Amino acid sequence: MSLKKLFIKHNSDKFRHKYYKVYDLYLEKLKKNKLNVLEIGVADGSSIKAWSDYFINSKIIGIDIKKIDIVKKKLNKKNISIYQGSQSDKDFIWTLTKKYKKFDIIIDDGSHFPEDVIKSFKILFHSLSLNGLYFVEDTQTSYNHYFGGNPFDLKFSRTHANFFKSLTDSLNYQEIANPFYLQSGYDGYIKNISFFNNMIVVQKGLNNIKSNLLLNNSYENRRYKTKINRGGNKFNYFLKYKIFFKLYTLFLFFINFFKKVILFRY
Ligand SMILES: C[S@@+](CC[C@H](N)C(=O)[O-])C[C@H]1O[C@@H](n2cnc3c(N)ncnc32)[C@H](O)[C@@H]1O
Repeated sequence: MSLKKLFIKHNSDKFRHKYYKVYDLYLEKLKKNKLNVLEIGVADGSSIKAWSDYFINSKIIGIDIKKIDIVKKKLNKKNISIYQGSQSDKDFIWTLTKKYKKFDIIIDDGSHFPEDVIKSFKILFHSLSLNGLYFVEDTQTSYNHYFGGNPFDLKFSRTHANFFKSLTDSLNYQEIANPFYLQSGYDGYIKNISFFNNMIVVQKGLNNIKSNLLLNNSYENRRYKTKINRGGNKFNYFLKYKIFFKLYTLFLFFINFFKKVILFRY
């Protein structure tokens, strides 16, 4: 049965929000695989039941901060396990990771508060298998102050929309022409980030394609190496790339450093 029909059958609002359209793009080809699927936020178990019918060979793990009566909610099925705990509780998440080792698919349909969404992504990213998928639903809360979001300072507020936007820099970390750039734990491990209406999808995967413009985050080093390999006056190239170009980069680095400090952007 299609995911759309399963969401209708189990009365999940993932149908009403049309999230099945996004899930179909990613999950159709995976549905027969043997996977560990973790959903944050169980509530009445509608989506857990849909996942259980859809991923017939997989383990479906649901977590919720509230106690879930699995008999009453008809969640006492062989491929379903439900745990009580918070998505942002590191110790609780670690006990799950210890038990299941890796999750292939993670769906965050929990509190939807920016702090929780960001915290659980940071905790769970290590437990997401290589080529695993991380879905975040209802990202509209980023733009709503009643849900911890910030509709007044869209670009610089500490919302999950901004967290995932800034994560896109990890897709191109090799191209950042800043010799002082400090790599993050996500650099090299994210293949794709997609933004949909009220939904974000992160695809984990190795991303270690070398830059064709930079050498170790330095444009000057790359140009210098290319030029001396082609022959010519080494001293002139040294002056140009290793001294003047580097000074220019250093000048811009400090201008931006002070700008960030003055504007509290660090
Ligand atoms: C939108 S409902 C989940 C709906 C369900 N996934 C479905 O589609 O049928 C959100 C659930 O997240 C749970 N929740 C709220 N804060 C949480 C937290 N910090 N950690 C885990 N679950 C949380 C709530 O108790 C609620 O049951």
